[in-house]
Amino acid sequence: MGKKKSKEYVCTVCGYRSPIKLGKCPECGSWNSFAEVEPEEKSRTKIAPAKPISINSNSIKISEERIKTGMEEFDRVLGGGIVKGSIILIGGEPGIGKSTLLLQIAGILSKNGKVLYISGEESYLQIRMRANRLGISSESLFILIEQNMEKIKETILAENPNLVIIDSVQTMQTAEAEGAPGSVSQVRECTRIATEISKTKGIPVILVGHVTKKGGIAGPKTVEHMVDGVFYLEGERMDVMRLFRSVKNRFGTTNEAGIFEMREKGLVEVKNPSLAFISDEGTLPIGSAITAVMEGTLPLFVEVQALATPTYFPIPRRVANGMDYNRMLLISAILEKRMHLKIGGFDLYTNSVGGFKLTSRSSDLAVAVSIMSSVFEKPVLEKSVIFGELGLGGEVRPTIGAERKVKQGKRLGFKNFVLPAFFKGKIEEKDANLFFVKDLNETKEVVF
Ligand SMILES: Nc1ncnc2c1ncn2[C@@H]1O[C@H](COP(=O)(O)OP(=O)(O)OP(=O)(O)O)[C@@H](O)[C@H]1O
Ligand SMILES: [Mg+2]
Repeated sequence: MGKKKSKEYVCTVCGYRSPIKLGKCPECGSWNSFAEVEPEEKSRTKIAPAKPISINSNSIKISEERIKTGMEEFDRVLGGGIVKGSIILIGGEPGIGKSTLLLQIAGILSKNGKVLYISGEESYLQIRMRANRLGISSESLFILIEQNMEKIKETILAENPNLVIIDSVQTMQTAEAEGAPGSVSQVRECTRIATEISKTKGIPVILVGHVTKKGGIAGPKTVEHMVDGVFYLEGERMDVMRLFRSVKNRFGTTNEAGIFEMREKGLVEVKNPSLAFISDEGTLPIGSAITAVMEGTLPLFVEVQALATPTYFPIPRRVANGMDYNRMLLISAILEKRMHLKIGGFDLYTNSVGGFKLTSRSSDLAVAVSIMSSVFEKPVLEKSVIFGELGLGGEVRPTIGAERKVKQGKRLGFKNFVLPAFFKGKIEEKDANLFFVKDLNETKEVVF
Protein backbone atom coordinates (compact mmCIF):
# COMPACT_ATOMS: atom_id res chain seq x y z
CA MET A 1 0.00 0.00 0.00
CA GLY A 2 1.45 3.36 -1.06
CA LYS A 3 2.14 5.93 1.61
CA LYS A 4 -0.62 8.51 1.81
CA LYS A 5 0.58 11.85 0.47
CA SER A 6 0.45 14.57 3.10
CA LYS A 7 -1.03 17.89 2.05
CA GLU A 8 1.06 20.93 1.41
CA TYR A 9 0.22 24.63 1.44
CA VAL A 10 1.84 27.41 -0.48
CA CYS A 11 1.74 31.18 -0.06
CA THR A 12 0.21 32.60 -3.25
CA VAL A 13 2.15 35.83 -2.81
CA CYS A 14 5.72 34.63 -2.34
CA GLY A 15 5.62 30.87 -2.90
CA TYR A 16 6.63 29.87 0.67
CA ARG A 17 5.72 26.22 1.35
CA SER A 18 4.38 24.87 4.62
CA PRO A 19 2.93 21.51 5.75
CA ILE A 20 0.17 23.35 7.62
CA LYS A 21 -2.10 26.19 6.58
CA LEU A 22 -0.79 29.35 8.18
CA GLY A 23 -2.69 32.57 8.79
CA LYS A 24 0.34 34.79 8.20
CA CYS A 25 3.20 33.96 5.88
CA PRO A 26 6.53 33.92 7.77
CA GLU A 27 8.40 34.80 4.55
CA CYS A 28 6.53 37.81 3.18
CA GLY A 29 4.09 38.66 5.97
CA SER A 30 0.92 38.33 3.85
CA TRP A 31 -2.29 37.32 5.60
CA ASN A 32 -4.59 34.46 4.49
CA SER A 33 -2.48 33.84 1.43
CA PHE A 34 -2.08 30.04 1.72
CA ALA A 35 -3.64 27.65 -0.79
CA GLU A 36 -3.48 23.86 -0.88
CA VAL A 37 -1.23 22.33 -3.55
CA GLU A 38 0.04 18.89 -4.52
CA PRO A 39 3.19 18.09 -2.58
CA GLU A 40 6.42 18.16 -4.57
CA GLU A 41 7.43 14.67 -5.72
CA LYS A 42 10.89 13.66 -4.64
CA SER A 43 12.71 11.91 -7.47
CA ARG A 44 13.85 8.36 -6.63
CA THR A 45 15.57 7.57 -9.93
CA LYS A 46 19.27 6.83 -9.73
CA ILE A 47 21.44 9.73 -10.83
CA ALA A 48 24.42 9.08 -13.12
CA PRO A 49 27.68 10.87 -12.21
CA ALA A 50 28.73 13.92 -14.26
CA LYS A 51 32.06 14.27 -16.10
CA PRO A 52 34.16 17.22 -14.92
CA ILE A 53 36.39 18.88 -17.55
CA SER A 54 40.07 19.76 -17.05
CA ILE A 55 40.86 23.47 -16.79
CA ASN A 56 43.40 22.95 -19.60
CA SER A 57 40.95 21.27 -21.92
CA ASN A 58 41.34 22.21 -25.57
CA SER A 59 37.86 21.09 -26.49
CA ILE A 60 36.28 24.27 -25.18
CA LYS A 61 36.61 27.42 -27.21
CA ILE A 62 37.29 30.36 -24.96
CA SER A 63 35.59 33.47 -26.12
CA GLU A 64 34.70 36.56 -24.25
CA GLU A 65 33.22 38.32 -27.21
CA ARG A 66 31.72 41.62 -26.30
CA ILE A 67 29.10 43.61 -28.09
CA LYS A 68 29.91 47.29 -27.97
CA THR A 69 26.97 49.66 -27.89
CA GLY A 70 29.06 52.69 -28.74
CA MET A 71 27.55 54.43 -25.73
CA GLU A 72 30.97 54.75 -24.14
CA GLU A 73 29.91 55.24 -20.55
CA PHE A 74 27.53 52.30 -20.71
CA ASP A 75 30.18 50.02 -22.23
CA ARG A 76 32.80 51.13 -19.75
CA VAL A 77 30.61 50.39 -16.73
CA LEU A 78 29.87 46.94 -18.16
CA GLY A 79 33.60 46.29 -18.43
CA GLY A 80 33.91 46.88 -22.17
CA GLY A 81 30.52 45.98 -23.64
CA ILE A 82 27.90 43.27 -23.29
CA VAL A 83 29.44 39.78 -23.09
CA LYS A 84 27.80 37.29 -25.46
CA GLY A 85 25.77 34.71 -23.59
CA SER A 86 25.66 36.75 -20.42
CA ILE A 87 22.62 37.80 -18.48
CA ILE A 88 22.56 41.11 -16.69
CA LEU A 89 20.08 42.93 -14.54
CA ILE A 90 19.50 46.65 -14.69
CA GLY A 91 17.63 47.91 -11.67
CA GLY A 92 16.30 51.27 -10.69
CA GLU A 93 13.45 53.08 -9.00
CA PRO A 94 10.22 53.58 -10.95
CA GLY A 95 10.40 56.30 -13.58
CA ILE A 96 14.16 56.74 -13.39
CA GLY A 97 14.70 55.93 -17.08
CA LYS A 98 15.39 52.19 -17.36
CA SER A 99 13.11 51.65 -20.37
CA THR A 100 14.55 54.75 -22.02
CA LEU A 101 18.15 53.57 -21.60
CA LEU A 102 17.39 50.08 -22.87
CA LEU A 103 15.34 51.24 -25.83
CA GLN A 104 18.30 53.42 -26.79
CA ILE A 105 20.68 50.45 -26.46
CA ALA A 106 18.25 48.30 -28.45
CA GLY A 107 18.06 51.00 -31.12
CA ILE A 108 21.85 51.20 -31.45
CA LEU A 109 22.47 47.44 -31.47
CA SER A 110 19.67 46.71 -33.93
CA LYS A 111 21.86 48.37 -36.56
CA ASN A 112 24.01 45.23 -36.46
CA GLY A 113 21.38 42.53 -36.05
CA LYS A 114 18.06 41.53 -34.66
CA VAL A 115 17.12 42.85 -31.23
CA LEU A 116 14.05 41.65 -29.38
CA TYR A 117 12.58 44.06 -26.83
CA ILE A 118 10.01 42.29 -24.69
CA SER A 119 7.77 44.42 -22.53
CA GLY A 120 5.32 43.19 -19.95
CA GLU A 121 4.26 46.57 -18.73
CA GLU A 122 3.77 48.89 -21.67
CA SER A 123 1.79 48.72 -24.89
CA TYR A 124 3.27 48.63 -28.39
CA LEU A 125 1.95 52.15 -28.89
CA GLN A 126 3.68 53.50 -25.79
CA ILE A 127 6.99 52.00 -26.82
CA ARG A 128 6.55 53.24 -30.37
CA MET A 129 5.86 56.74 -29.08
CA ARG A 130 8.96 56.65 -26.91
CA ALA A 131 11.02 55.40 -29.85
CA ASN A 132 9.72 58.29 -31.96
CA ARG A 133 10.65 60.78 -29.25
CA LEU A 134 14.14 59.28 -28.95
CA GLY A 135 14.55 59.21 -32.71
CA ILE A 136 14.88 55.43 -32.89
CA SER A 137 13.84 53.69 -36.05
CA SER A 138 15.11 50.31 -37.20
CA GLU A 139 13.95 47.41 -39.34
CA SER A 140 15.57 44.91 -37.02
CA LEU A 141 14.27 46.12 -33.67
CA PHE A 142 11.29 43.97 -32.76
CA ILE A 143 8.82 44.58 -29.96
CA LEU A 144 6.94 41.83 -28.18
CA ILE A 145 4.27 42.56 -25.61
CA GLU A 146 4.13 39.42 -23.51
CA GLN A 147 4.18 38.30 -19.91
CA ASN A 148 4.22 34.55 -20.28
CA MET A 149 7.76 33.28 -19.85
CA GLU A 150 7.15 29.98 -21.65
CA LYS A 151 5.92 31.88 -24.68
CA ILE A 152 8.85 34.26 -24.46
CA LYS A 153 11.26 31.34 -24.36
CA GLU A 154 9.75 29.77 -27.48
CA THR A 155 9.75 33.12 -29.28
CA ILE A 156 13.42 33.75 -28.48
CA LEU A 157 14.34 30.27 -29.70
CA ALA A 158 12.37 30.76 -32.91
CA GLU A 159 13.59 34.30 -33.62
CA ASN A 160 17.20 33.80 -32.50
CA PRO A 161 17.95 37.50 -31.94
CA ASN A 162 21.37 39.00 -31.13
CA LEU A 163 20.09 40.62 -27.97
CA VAL A 164 17.02 40.22 -25.77
CA ILE A 165 15.68 42.84 -23.39
CA ILE A 166 13.02 41.88 -20.86
CA ASP A 167 11.25 44.87 -19.31
CA SER A 168 10.60 44.04 -16.51
CA VAL A 169 11.28 40.77 -14.73
CA GLN A 170 8.59 41.63 -12.17
CA THR A 171 5.83 41.56 -14.77
CA MET A 172 6.76 38.14 -16.15
CA GLN A 173 4.92 35.01 -15.21
CA THR A 174 5.66 31.32 -15.45
CA ALA A 175 3.63 28.18 -14.78
CA GLU A 176 6.76 26.70 -13.17
CA ALA A 177 6.34 28.77 -10.03
CA GLU A 178 3.58 29.72 -7.66
CA GLY A 179 2.54 33.20 -6.65
CA ALA A 180 1.52 36.36 -8.45
CA PRO A 181 3.83 38.11 -10.96
CA GLY A 182 6.42 40.07 -9.04
CA SER A 183 6.47 37.62 -6.13
CA VAL A 184 9.84 36.24 -5.07
CA SER A 185 9.16 32.75 -6.46
CA GLN A 186 7.94 34.10 -9.82
CA VAL A 187 10.79 36.58 -10.21
CA ARG A 188 13.35 33.89 -9.37
CA GLU A 189 11.90 31.31 -11.74
CA CYS A 190 11.52 33.79 -14.60
CA THR A 191 15.16 34.81 -14.10
CA ARG A 192 16.18 31.17 -14.10
CA ILE A 193 14.41 30.57 -17.41
CA ALA A 194 16.01 33.68 -18.92
CA THR A 195 19.45 32.56 -17.65
CA GLU A 196 18.93 29.15 -19.20
CA ILE A 197 18.07 30.63 -22.62
CA SER A 198 21.02 33.00 -22.49
CA LYS A 199 23.53 30.30 -21.45
CA THR A 200 22.38 27.58 -23.84
CA LYS A 201 21.88 29.79 -26.88
CA GLY A 202 24.64 32.31 -26.22
CA ILE A 203 22.20 35.18 -26.54
CA PRO A 204 22.84 38.10 -24.20
CA VAL A 205 19.78 38.97 -22.11
CA ILE A 206 19.18 42.20 -20.23
CA LEU A 207 16.58 42.08 -17.49
CA VAL A 208 14.99 45.20 -16.08
CA GLY A 209 14.11 45.15 -12.40
CA HIS A 210 12.24 47.69 -10.33
CA VAL A 211 13.59 48.55 -6.95
CA THR A 212 11.40 50.36 -4.52
CA LYS A 213 12.82 53.03 -2.22
CA LYS A 214 12.55 50.51 0.62
CA GLY A 215 14.01 47.67 -1.50
CA GLY A 216 10.77 45.65 -1.60
CA ILE A 217 10.81 41.90 -0.93
CA ALA A 218 10.33 40.84 -4.51
CA GLY A 219 12.83 43.38 -5.73
CA PRO A 220 15.73 42.40 -7.96
CA LYS A 221 17.87 41.85 -4.87
CA THR A 222 16.49 38.32 -4.67
CA VAL A 223 17.94 37.38 -8.07
CA GLU A 224 21.28 39.19 -7.91
CA HIS A 225 23.15 35.92 -7.32
CA MET A 226 21.62 34.30 -10.42
CA VAL A 227 22.83 36.79 -13.01
CA ASP A 228 26.28 37.73 -14.35
CA GLY A 229 26.03 41.41 -13.68
CA VAL A 230 23.89 43.82 -11.70
CA PHE A 231 23.75 47.48 -12.58
CA TYR A 232 21.72 50.27 -11.09
CA LEU A 233 20.43 53.44 -12.63
CA GLU A 234 20.13 56.00 -9.89
CA GLY A 235 19.22 59.62 -9.43
CA GLU A 236 16.41 61.91 -8.42
CA ARG A 237 13.44 61.68 -10.76
CA MET A 238 12.99 65.43 -10.75
CA ASP A 239 16.65 66.03 -11.52
CA VAL A 240 18.35 65.39 -14.84
CA MET A 241 21.49 63.59 -13.65
CA ARG A 242 21.58 59.79 -13.63
CA LEU A 243 24.29 57.59 -12.22
CA PHE A 244 24.73 54.20 -13.86
CA ARG A 245 26.87 51.96 -11.71
CA SER A 246 27.84 48.36 -11.36
CA VAL A 247 27.03 46.47 -8.21
CA LYS A 248 28.17 43.06 -9.40
CA ASN A 249 30.05 42.10 -12.55
CA ARG A 250 31.43 38.68 -13.39
CA PHE A 251 33.17 40.14 -16.44
CA GLY A 252 34.69 43.32 -15.06
CA THR A 253 35.24 45.44 -12.02
CA THR A 254 32.42 46.67 -9.84
CA ASN A 255 34.23 49.92 -9.39
CA GLU A 256 32.77 51.65 -12.38
CA ALA A 257 30.14 54.30 -12.71
CA GLY A 258 28.96 56.40 -15.61
CA ILE A 259 26.99 59.60 -15.58
CA PHE A 260 24.12 60.41 -17.89
CA GLU A 261 21.83 63.35 -18.34
CA MET A 262 18.12 62.75 -18.99
CA ARG A 263 17.03 64.86 -21.95
CA GLU A 264 14.00 64.79 -24.17
CA LYS A 265 16.01 62.73 -26.67
CA GLY A 266 16.89 60.23 -23.95
CA LEU A 267 19.93 59.61 -21.79
CA VAL A 268 23.01 61.46 -22.97
CA GLU A 269 26.50 60.66 -21.70
CA VAL A 270 28.16 63.36 -19.67
CA LYS A 271 31.66 63.62 -21.08
CA ASN A 272 33.20 65.37 -18.12
CA PRO A 273 31.31 63.70 -15.31
CA SER A 274 33.60 64.90 -12.57
CA LEU A 275 32.04 68.34 -12.78
CA ALA A 276 28.42 67.30 -13.27
CA PHE A 277 27.44 68.06 -9.70
CA ILE A 278 28.79 71.56 -9.43
CA SER A 279 26.69 74.61 -10.23
CA ASP A 280 27.97 77.04 -12.85
CA GLU A 281 31.63 77.91 -12.88
CA GLY A 282 32.83 81.11 -11.29
CA THR A 283 33.02 82.07 -7.66
CA LEU A 284 30.99 79.97 -5.27
CA PRO A 285 28.23 81.65 -3.27
CA ILE A 286 28.49 81.93 0.51
CA GLY A 287 27.46 78.64 2.10
CA SER A 288 28.85 76.49 -0.72
CA ALA A 289 31.85 74.17 -0.61
CA ILE A 290 33.13 71.56 -3.01
CA THR A 291 33.95 68.06 -1.90
CA ALA A 292 35.31 65.03 -3.71
CA VAL A 293 33.90 61.53 -3.37
CA MET A 294 34.88 58.32 -5.09
CA GLU A 295 32.26 56.68 -7.25
CA GLY A 296 34.09 53.47 -7.98
CA THR A 297 37.39 54.53 -9.52
CA LEU A 298 35.98 57.85 -10.59
CA PRO A 299 36.55 60.91 -8.39
CA LEU A 300 33.44 63.07 -8.46
CA PHE A 301 33.33 66.66 -7.35
CA VAL A 302 30.11 67.63 -5.66
CA GLU A 303 29.02 71.03 -4.44
CA VAL A 304 27.42 71.00 -1.00
CA GLN A 305 25.40 73.94 0.15
CA ALA A 306 24.16 75.12 3.51
CA LEU A 307 21.76 77.85 4.48
CA ALA A 308 21.60 78.96 8.10
CA THR A 309 18.90 81.48 8.95
CA PRO A 310 17.90 82.80 12.40
CA THR A 311 15.03 80.70 13.68
CA TYR A 312 11.65 81.95 14.80
CA PHE A 313 10.63 78.64 16.28
CA PRO A 314 11.34 77.16 19.72
CA ILE A 315 12.88 74.14 17.96
CA PRO A 316 15.03 75.10 14.97
CA ARG A 317 14.35 73.39 11.64
CA ARG A 318 16.81 70.98 10.09
CA VAL A 319 16.43 69.88 6.47
CA ALA A 320 18.99 67.68 4.67
CA ASN A 321 18.74 67.09 0.92
CA GLY A 322 21.02 64.63 -0.84
CA MET A 323 22.68 63.53 2.39
CA ASP A 324 21.78 61.53 5.45
CA TYR A 325 19.70 63.60 7.87
CA ASN A 326 21.27 62.10 10.97
CA ARG A 327 24.77 62.64 9.61
CA MET A 328 23.93 66.31 9.06
CA LEU A 329 22.64 66.55 12.66
CA LEU A 330 25.83 64.93 13.88
CA ILE A 331 28.02 67.34 11.93
CA SER A 332 26.11 70.34 13.30
CA ALA A 333 26.43 68.94 16.82
CA ILE A 334 30.21 68.61 16.34
CA LEU A 335 30.36 72.21 15.10
CA GLU A 336 28.34 73.42 18.08
CA LYS A 337 30.52 71.62 20.62
CA ARG A 338 33.99 71.90 19.09
CA MET A 339 33.77 75.23 17.29
CA HIS A 340 31.31 76.85 19.72
CA LEU A 341 29.06 77.67 16.80
CA LYS A 342 25.63 78.78 18.02
CA ILE A 343 23.73 76.65 15.54
CA GLY A 344 20.84 76.22 18.00
CA GLY A 345 19.68 79.69 17.04
CA PHE A 346 19.54 78.89 13.33
CA ASP A 347 17.28 76.96 11.01
CA LEU A 348 19.60 74.87 8.90
CA TYR A 349 19.12 73.57 5.38
CA THR A 350 21.77 71.55 3.56
CA ASN A 351 21.77 70.40 -0.02
CA SER A 352 23.91 68.66 -2.61
CA VAL A 353 23.86 70.08 -6.13
CA GLY A 354 22.32 68.07 -8.97
CA GLY A 355 20.52 65.65 -6.68
CA PHE A 356 23.69 63.67 -5.98
CA LYS A 357 23.26 61.36 -2.98
CA LEU A 358 26.22 61.81 -0.68
CA THR A 359 26.75 58.52 1.08
CA SER A 360 30.48 58.75 1.66
CA ARG A 361 31.76 60.21 4.93
CA SER A 362 34.43 61.83 2.85
CA SER A 363 32.03 64.75 2.39
CA ASP A 364 31.69 65.46 6.16
CA LEU A 365 34.34 68.14 6.22
CA ALA A 366 32.85 70.04 3.27
CA VAL A 367 29.38 69.91 4.86
CA ALA A 368 30.86 71.35 8.05
CA VAL A 369 32.66 74.06 6.08
CA SER A 370 29.50 75.00 4.14
CA ILE A 371 27.58 75.36 7.42
CA MET A 372 30.34 77.53 8.91
CA SER A 373 30.41 79.60 5.72
CA SER A 374 26.70 80.32 5.98
CA VAL A 375 26.82 81.09 9.72
CA PHE A 376 29.91 83.35 9.42
CA GLU A 377 28.64 84.77 6.11
CA LYS A 378 32.09 84.32 4.65
CA PRO A 379 32.90 82.66 1.33
CA VAL A 380 35.09 79.57 1.25
CA LEU A 381 38.63 79.77 -0.16
CA GLU A 382 38.18 79.87 -3.91
CA LYS A 383 38.98 76.97 -6.24
CA SER A 384 39.19 74.60 -3.30
CA VAL A 385 38.21 70.99 -2.80
CA ILE A 386 37.57 69.84 0.76
CA PHE A 387 37.34 66.26 1.91
CA GLY A 388 37.74 64.13 5.02
CA GLU A 389 35.65 62.30 7.57
CA LEU A 390 34.78 64.11 10.80
CA GLY A 391 35.20 62.46 14.17
CA LEU A 392 33.14 63.41 17.21
CA GLY A 393 36.10 65.31 18.64
CA GLY A 394 36.22 67.52 15.55
CA GLU A 395 39.25 65.63 14.21
CA VAL A 396 39.60 65.02 10.47
CA ARG A 397 40.05 61.40 9.46
CA PRO A 398 41.39 59.94 6.21
CA THR A 399 39.15 58.54 3.50
CA ILE A 400 39.89 56.56 0.35
CA GLY A 401 41.03 57.88 -2.99
CA ALA A 402 42.77 61.06 -1.73
CA GLU A 403 45.55 60.96 -4.30
CA ARG A 404 43.21 60.42 -7.22
CA LYS A 405 40.96 63.22 -6.01
CA VAL A 406 43.89 65.63 -5.90
CA LYS A 407 45.22 64.59 -9.32
CA GLN A 408 41.85 64.72 -11.04
CA GLY A 409 40.90 67.93 -9.21
CA LYS A 410 44.07 69.67 -10.38
CA ARG A 411 43.40 68.54 -13.93
CA LEU A 412 39.96 70.14 -13.72
CA GLY A 413 41.35 73.45 -12.54
CA PHE A 414 41.11 73.31 -8.74
CA LYS A 415 44.05 74.96 -7.00
CA ASN A 416 43.55 74.31 -3.29
CA PHE A 417 42.98 71.00 -1.57
CA VAL A 418 42.00 70.71 2.07
CA LEU A 419 42.59 67.12 3.15
CA PRO A 420 43.25 65.03 6.26
CA ALA A 421 46.64 65.50 7.99
CA PHE A 422 47.08 61.74 7.65
CA PHE A 423 48.22 62.27 4.07
CA LYS A 424 51.01 64.71 4.95
CA GLY A 425 54.23 63.46 3.34
CA LYS A 426 52.26 60.81 1.44
CA ILE A 427 50.72 63.00 -1.23
CA GLU A 428 52.53 65.70 -3.12
CA GLU A 429 51.36 67.68 -6.10
CA LYS A 430 53.16 70.37 -8.04
CA ASP A 431 51.35 73.62 -8.76
CA ALA A 432 48.63 72.87 -6.23
CA ASN A 433 48.25 73.96 -2.62
CA LEU A 434 47.70 71.04 -0.31
CA PHE A 435 46.47 71.98 3.14
CA PHE A 436 46.74 69.08 5.54
CA VAL A 437 44.34 69.65 8.40
CA LYS A 438 44.05 67.68 11.60
CA ASP A 439 40.84 69.16 12.94
CA LEU A 440 38.04 71.66 12.39
CA ASN A 441 40.02 74.57 13.87
CA GLU A 442 42.82 74.14 11.37
CA THR A 443 40.28 73.79 8.59
CA LYS A 444 38.66 77.07 9.60
CA GLU A 445 42.04 78.83 9.54
CA VAL A 446 42.67 77.58 6.01
CA VAL A 447 39.34 78.07 4.28
CA PHE A 448 38.14 81.44 5.63
N1 LIG B 1 9.47 64.46 -23.15
C1 LIG B 1 10.37 64.17 -22.24
N2 LIG B 1 11.45 64.94 -22.08
C2 LIG B 1 12.39 64.66 -21.18
N3 LIG B 1 12.34 63.63 -20.34
C3 LIG B 1 11.29 62.82 -20.44
C4 LIG B 1 10.24 63.04 -21.38
N4 LIG B 1 9.35 62.06 -21.22
C5 LIG B 1 9.79 61.27 -20.24
N5 LIG B 1 10.96 61.72 -19.76
C6 LIG B 1 11.78 61.15 -18.70
O1 LIG B 1 11.71 59.76 -18.75
C7 LIG B 1 11.44 59.24 -17.46
C8 LIG B 1 10.69 57.95 -17.59
O2 LIG B 1 11.56 57.07 -18.26
P1 LIG B 1 11.29 55.53 -18.35
O3 LIG B 1 9.87 55.26 -18.66
O4 LIG B 1 12.34 55.02 -19.25
O5 LIG B 1 11.60 55.08 -16.88
P2 LIG B 1 11.48 53.65 -16.26
O6 LIG B 1 12.56 53.56 -15.25
O7 LIG B 1 11.43 52.64 -17.32
O8 LIG B 1 10.09 53.77 -15.55
P3 LIG B 1 9.03 52.66 -15.14
O9 LIG B 1 9.32 52.39 -13.73
O10 LIG B 1 7.74 53.33 -15.32
O11 LIG B 1 9.23 51.50 -16.05
C9 LIG B 1 10.65 60.31 -16.80
O12 LIG B 1 10.79 60.25 -15.40
C10 LIG B 1 11.27 61.56 -17.35
O13 LIG B 1 12.37 61.92 -16.56
MG1 LIG C 1 9.95 51.22 -17.80
